[in-house]
Amino acid sequence: MAKQPRFNDLFEEWARDYDRAVTGGHPEYIEVFQGYHEILKTVVETLSLPRGSVVLEFGVGTGNLSRLLLDAGYRVIGIEPSAAMRERAKSKLPELELYEGHFLQVPEGLPPVDGIVSTYAFHHLTDEEKDQALRDFSLRLRPGGKIVFADTAFQDEGTKRDLEREAEERGFYELMLDLKREYYPLIGRLKQAFHQAGFTVHLKQLNRYVWLMAGDRTGK
Ligand SMILES: C[S@@+](CC[C@H](N)C(=O)[O-])C[C@H]1O[C@@H](n2cnc3c(N)ncnc32)[C@H](O)[C@@H]1O
Repeated sequence: MAKQPRFNDLFEEWARDYDRAVTGGHPEYIEVFQGYHEILKTVVETLSLPRGSVVLEFGVGTGNLSRLLLDAGYRVIGIEPSAAMRERAKSKLPELELYEGHFLQVPEGLPPVDGIVSTYAFHHLTDEEKDQALRDFSLRLRPGGKIVFADTAFQDEGTKRDLEREAEERGFYELMLDLKREYYPLIGRLKQAFHQAGFTVHLKQLNRYVWLMAGDRTGK
């Protein structure tokens, strides 16, 4: 994958208005971000590691999840490809340790970590890239380490097609294109990817679009 991941231009543009979108400011994405702050809190509660644990966060965006992780007493190492997003996150959280990079391009020299988290970002990878990223995570995590993600995923192809059709009928063309263009995984494929990388996984739907994905290393 190139230094800048695909879709980077989109986030360079979106950085300024992103925090408005997650609180209902973008009509097409109201349901995608339904319960956004609760979803981030669920990720932190599911992580549930001792204070001082090292947590790697991918796709930090404007730093909303990072703030909760710092408040929970973790050492947070943030990775974010978009310069505009990094700037927003840094202006909100000057204390955040933040690096340029992405799921498949992690800065060298980082320590092993206790947790890997991400919200609303894993779908930027194709299924094969998700497999590759999960294999890399299993090498980065200390024994007993956890992955906790929340992101859009679909129970099956039918559910995905129904939501695409619904977006079109409502005139939500941006959302419809997004659903067709990005790599939102199906639940079965996601389970398989976690298992193959040596994780047991727990999946739970949090709103019409977003699922919690919690993986524990099984030591495979
Ligand atoms: C929808 S935003 C989510 C931001 C934040 N995690 C949140 O929950 O509000 C997606 C973020 O993922 C970043 N991103 C895009 N492609 C990525 C990749 N391949 N690896 C890691 N992050 C990526 C974007 O730059 C953007 O900041």
